[in-house]
Amino acid sequence: MIHYINTNEKQRKDLRGKKNMMKILVLGDISRSLSCKYVSERLWKYRKDNGIDLVIVNGENSAEQNGIDRASADMLFSAGADVITTGNHAFKRYEAKTLFEEEKMLLRPANFPGMVPGEGTVLVNAAGMTVLVLNLLGVVMMEPLENPFFTIEKILTKYKGEYDIAVLDFHAEATSEKQALAHYLDGRITLFFGTHTHVATADECILPKGTAYITDIGMCGPDFSVLGIKPECIIEKMTTGLPVKFIPSTNKVTAHGIIVEVDKKTKKATSIKRITF
Ligand SMILES: [Fe+2]
Repeated sequence: MIHYINTNEKQRKDLRGKKNMMKILVLGDISRSLSCKYVSERLWKYRKDNGIDLVIVNGENSAEQNGIDRASADMLFSAGADVITTGNHAFKRYEAKTLFEEEKMLLRPANFPGMVPGEGTVLVNAAGMTVLVLNLLGVVMMEPLENPFFTIEKILTKYKGEYDIAVLDFHAEATSEKQALAHYLDGRITLFFGTHTHVATADECILPKGTAYITDIGMCGPDFSVLGIKPECIIEKMTTGLPVKFIPSTNKVTAHGIIVEVDKKTKKATSIKRITF
C-alpha cells in the first residue's frame, strides 16, 4: 500500500506540473520535548520556503524523557513530518508498542525480530514518486539484532519493482559500519543517511555509483550540551562511575539535517547538503 503524504491535491498537481526534481528534507534525532517544540514551530514554514516534497524526521528521543510517545509523534506529524524514523530508543516509552501498531508512517528499525510491533519500511508517494523509506539499526557496539546487511537485502528483494527510489535511515554507532553498508548499497538506493551519534559529520557526498551519503546528520537539540544532556550530568557520570539522572539541557536549540535533490527521470540524487535552522 502506498501512503500519500501531507500535501493536498492542489499541491500534488503543482508539484507534478513544475518540477523534474524532488527535494527531501531529513532532520536528525529530536532531543527531548524542548527540541520537539522548536522543530514543530518552524517545520511547515521551512518546508514551504524551501519547496520540500518529503520530510523525514528521526523522532526516537522526541518525548519528554526520551523515546517517542503519542504527544511527540502527533506534534511532529502535524508540523509537517511525513515519516518519522527511530532507532535503539524506539520502545523506551511504555505506550510506544501501541503507537507503532497504529502509525504506519512511524518506523521502528526493520532488523528487530518480526514479532515486534510496527514496521521498518513504508511506501510513500511524494512529488509523483513512490519512495521506499527504510529504517535499520546498526549492530556494532549496539544491541545484537539481525545483521543489517542481510535485512536490507531481503527488503529490497521483497519490494523490487514497487518503488522509484529508496531512502535509508541507518541508526548506528560505528562510522565503519555506516560506511561499509553505504558502499554495499551504493547505486541500489538513492539516499543513505546516518543518525544516532547526534553530531553532524562533514562527509556528505554522492558515492561512486550514485547514492547520496552522509555518516550522521546530527541532532535537533540544545547547543553546548552532551548529546542534548547538561554537560555536568555526563561529567559526573564519567568521573564517578555512579548512576546519574540525565537532565536535558535548556540551551537554545539548533535543528540539524540535510536537503537532498533527486532527479525524477534518472531517480538518482544530484545533490546533498547539510542545513541548520
Ligand atoms: Fe539512538
